[in-house]
Amino acid sequence: MTTVIDGKALAEEIITSVKHQTDKLKAATGITPGIAVIIVGEDPASQVYVNSKSKKALECGFHSVQHNLPEQTDEAELLALLDNLNNDPEIHGILVQLPLPKHIDEGRVIQTISPDKDVDGFHFINVGKLGTGETESAFVPCTPAGAMIMIERQCGKDLSGLNAVVVGRSNIVGKPMFNLLLAANATVTVAHSRTKNLPELARNADILVAAVGRPQMINADWIKPGAVVIDVGINRIPAPEKGENKTKLVGDVDYEQAFEVASAITPVPGGVGPMTIAMLMANTLTSAARIAGAPKPQF
Ligand code: GUN
Repeated sequence: MTTVIDGKALAEEIITSVKHQTDKLKAATGITPGIAVIIVGEDPASQVYVNSKSKKALECGFHSVQHNLPEQTDEAELLALLDNLNNDPEIHGILVQLPLPKHIDEGRVIQTISPDKDVDGFHFINVGKLGTGETESAFVPCTPAGAMIMIERQCGKDLSGLNAVVVGRSNIVGKPMFNLLLAANATVTVAHSRTKNLPELARNADILVAAVGRPQMINADWIKPGAVVIDVGINRIPAPEKGENKTKLVGDVDYEQAFEVASAITPVPGGVGPMTIAMLMANTLTSAARIAGAPKPQF
């Protein structure tokens, strides 16, 4: 029987824990975790993501501010805002939604965020900590952190002897996912668009993580029987079966096919997606606790 990994339920479990630990932090230290979320431009999908991040923060009992900046905002203005937020004692987590408009240097923006408030885990300091196994003090990027909790629930915390294949080498998902799996003792391969014999390589995987952004690219032929399949992709495709001009969300994995072969699989939607926001809340609480000198929250 294939297990469908319920990301919504797991994310709710984490959010409940965040709320509980936030109450405890407030009672013990008087500190309310604070998050600032910044979006530049009007991309509708990004607006939806950012609004749900801000809303979830309020639900967790956080202080939550959102900066909606126009598309034409110049880089200096954004950097000045980050400087203010870096120095604002009420803010413990800063997130700049990516991608940014082309005229803004994304790298410079990310490196301007204080590594102590970098709840996205994109700053060189946090990337370096994760890469050198300092997972306790690093901020880990939210999507791979969420995917890792799902993997731990299926396979345990120690992945010794297991082969993991990550398809995709992005800074946001593929590379941090590699580091997390390696830190958990898995034998990890990162495959990408230039990799030869992708399906054959993927068939070695006891744990297969798909993060390529290509709708339903991974079919049954790529999956080892009994593998745990984590689908990070969120792709919108036409759905004529639902009516004219209708669309639907699908992952990078062909879910129906993979379901027949895998031992456990994340659906899209309702899999890794909700975990990303939950881990952002977890990281923000962790940051506030750290700044308050309180013990590290556990999830
Ligand atoms: N855009 C897509 N995913 C992410 C994310 O995890 N963080 C930020 N800041 N932007 C994103």
